[in-house]
Amino acid sequence: MTAQIIDGKQVAADMRAELKAEVAKLKEQGIVPGLGVILVGEDPASKSYVTAKERTCEEIGIYSDDNRLPAETSQEELMALVEKMNNNPKINGILVQLPLPKHLNEAEVLLAIDPAKDVDGFHPMNVGKMVVGEKGFLPCTPHGVIQLLIRSGVTIEGANVVIVGRSNIVGKPLANMLIQKQPNRNATVTVCHTRTKDLAHQTRQADIVIAAAGRPNTITADMIKEGAVVIDVGVNRVEDATKKRGYRLVGDVDFEAVKEKASFITPVPGGVGPMTITMLLYNTVESAKRKQKTEDRRQRENSD
Ligand code: GUN
Repeated sequence: MTAQIIDGKQVAADMRAELKAEVAKLKEQGIVPGLGVILVGEDPASKSYVTAKERTCEEIGIYSDDNRLPAETSQEELMALVEKMNNNPKINGILVQLPLPKHLNEAEVLLAIDPAKDVDGFHPMNVGKMVVGEKGFLPCTPHGVIQLLIRSGVTIEGANVVIVGRSNIVGKPLANMLIQKQPNRNATVTVCHTRTKDLAHQTRQADIVIAAAGRPNTITADMIKEGAVVIDVGVNRVEDATKKRGYRLVGDVDFEAVKEKASFITPVPGGVGPMTITMLLYNTVESAKRKQKTEDRRQRENSD
C-alpha cells in the first residue's frame, strides 16, 4: 500500500480561510481579536516561529502586539508585561514563546497568564479543564493533530492509538484529548516513551501511530501495521552539506519506507507544523468570541 500524504499546509490554509471570514464578521460588530506576543532573547528558531505567528495574524486580520525583549530581561519585567496584557482589553490571547532564557522562571510566567487569555493552553487551569473534559483552551499542536486526522477522514473513535513521546506540550495532552468521551475522540490510547520495553511491539498494534519523540528514525517501516495512519510531530535538524543553511528538517518517522506501508502519513515539513500556528489563532478568535458572549450576557442581566 502507498499512503495518501496528508497535506498539512492545505488543511491549515483551509482553516485560516475559515478564520479570516469569521474575523471579518466579528469586525462588522466592532470586535477585533488581538494576540499579545512576547519573545525574550535571540534564539533563531523562536524568532522565526514568532515572525510566522505575527505574519499569520496579519493575514487573518488579527491585531498583534509584538514585544521582543532582550535576553537579560528580568523576571519582574516579564511578569509586569504579562500583567499589563492581562489587563489590556484589546488583547484576547497571550503568547509567551518558549523556551525562555535559563535565568527566567517559566512555570511562574505561565501561571501569571489570565487563563481566559491562555491561547497556548499551558496554564494549569486549562490543563486541568482539558483532563476533565471541560471547555478551556486546548494546546495547539495536539489540537492540530486531531484536526488533521478529522479533516483527512480518519476515524478516531475506537481506534488503537499509540503515541510515542510523553512531553507536556504534545504526548501527555494528546493522550488526554483522545480518550475523552465525546465525538471524534473515544480512542484507546497507549503512551510510549524512552523506558518502554518493546516499542515496536506496541506500535505494531496501532491503527494510528503518533510520533512525538524528537529523534529521527524513531519509527521505521517494520514497526508499522499495514494500512496504519502515521502522524509525525517531530522536527529535527540533520546536517546536510548540500543545503545552503547546512541542515535539513526531518521528522521522527522514516518517511520514504513507512509511506509504502501506511494508509495516511504526514510529511515533515508540511504536515503537523503548519497546524500549530493555525490552532493558536483559532484559540485567539475563540477567546474574543467568548469575551463578547460574557459581555452581552452581563449587559442583558443589567437591563433586566
Ligand atoms: N515553543 C515551541 N512550541 C511552542 C508553542 O506551541 N507555544 C509556545 N508559547 N512556545 C513554543
